[in-house]
Amino acid sequence: LKIAVLLGTRPEIIKMSPIIRYLENVNELQRIKKLSKMAGYDLSSDSSKSNANENNENNENNEKKDNVLSKNTLDILDIDNTRVEYIIIHTNQHYSQNMDKIFFDELNLPKCKYNLKIGSGRHGEQTGNMMIALEKVLVEEEPDVLFVQGDTNTVLAGAITASKMGINVAHVEAGLRSFDRTMPEELNRIMADHISDFLLAPTNLAKQNLLNEGIDENKIFVVGNTIVDATLQNLKIAKKKIENLESSENMLSNLASEKNADYFLLTLHRAENTDYFDRLSNIIENIVNIADNYSKIVFPIHPRTFKKLKEYDLLSKLENNPNIQLIEPVGYLDFLLLENNSKLILTDSGGVQEEACILGVPCLTIRQNTERPETVDVGSNIIVGYDYDNWVNGLNKILGLDLEKDTDRCTPCSAKKWDNPFGCGNSAEKILEIVFSKLKN
Ligand code: UD1
Ligand code: UDP
Repeated sequence: LKIAVLLGTRPEIIKMSPIIRYLENVNELQRIKKLSKMAGYDLSSDSSKSNANENNENNENNEKKDNVLSKNTLDILDIDNTRVEYIIIHTNQHYSQNMDKIFFDELNLPKCKYNLKIGSGRHGEQTGNMMIALEKVLVEEEPDVLFVQGDTNTVLAGAITASKMGINVAHVEAGLRSFDRTMPEELNRIMADHISDFLLAPTNLAKQNLLNEGIDENKIFVVGNTIVDATLQNLKIAKKKIENLESSENMLSNLASEKNADYFLLTLHRAENTDYFDRLSNIIENIVNIADNYSKIVFPIHPRTFKKLKEYDLLSKLENNPNIQLIEPVGYLDFLLLENNSKLILTDSGGVQEEACILGVPCLTIRQNTERPETVDVGSNIIVGYDYDNWVNGLNKILGLDLEKDTDRCTPCSAKKWDNPFGCGNSAEKILEIVFSKLKN
């Protein structure tokens, strides 16, 4: 069984990481089995006795170890008789150190077998170049399935190329819809969903969107979102990391330490928000007003936004404001802490809307719509658009929920103030179980 995992951007690396960690573990298990066989031991009758799987099923506390597949999933895979191989293919749509390599390092991910080195470009050029390069790799590797995640140009290139070659496409995070076809992400999602073989939908609502478009129900599986797996696993690691740092050692540890935390966190990068002067200038004006009247703002700037702020001569408005702290994009561990300890998150990011909901931090979304309406329904998120009065109303409404600071807000299935609609953190395992069992038949 050969599995290819395609990724290209920051959120894809983060959301694929729980799947990759499981696959890595299967490889480890098979290595151990092979070595033991060579040494004269046969572990094949009970895979749960091997090192990689110990503590999992037989654990007295019944606590499941992160990244280790359950015996049931390993049985489905028939690990004793199936050689499982997986490869990672990176389009390099994101390539700056702090948009790419930092996540491989922090998330302890193996090196990609292929880096297509596509980089930035206009939509057609970028997507087309990805397809040309990816096709060569798929011809060479002949995987049984290609995993893609989300709604980027990398996803579209992957889904088109693989499906035309008769390779199964597993679309992780299928079925999201903003119903706004001016967004490149919406076009990518729709096209990828219609040519994928496994539609791994995070929620029932996402499944319903797919059914409404006439997609065969047998291809759709509601599995939660791997962002819950990633958030829960990595927040633990991030908290340990910060405990080991002297607070004076690191600006971020100061900012993100619970006792000092008194800031709003901002991210902004969507093309519809950054690529038009009037829109971006309107947003910057609102941000400056919020900083002047409500709270200090910490803003890790996406490279796209940095470029546009400079081009439109808007950067100085932020730089000159003592209540706005501009920083470069940060790694996942630091960002999770920044999110977890912030009073409020302002964002146009998809993943950040989800993480805010999972972490129990109120969120205002700087857009006119969202493909994550579940967050609005549970009350963790308000869509505020571009009118400053709406921002202020949203802010008062969501902070008026009396969200007292709580040092341990992150619980698997529900944050303190609302239910988390994206699952309990076992999405990656569900995905592999489904795909393994279908491919084996
Ligand atoms: C892409 C996705 C978007 C996703 C986002 C995650 C598409 C159409 N858009 O947007 O859905 O939310 O990734 O962050 O796929 N740049 C760098 N270094 C990098 C990457 C980009 O400097 O490592 C700059 C370049 O100037 C580039 C610009 O950012 O032109 C935009 O990059 P691009 O990959 O086209 O889109 P994103 O805005 O990152
Ligand atoms: N993120 C990060 N560092 C940052 C900003 C964001 O690690 O400085 C993470 C964040 O935790 C989330 C993901 O990046 O998991 C979201 O990516 P982005 O906002 O770029 O894309 P989107 O989710 O909108 O596609």
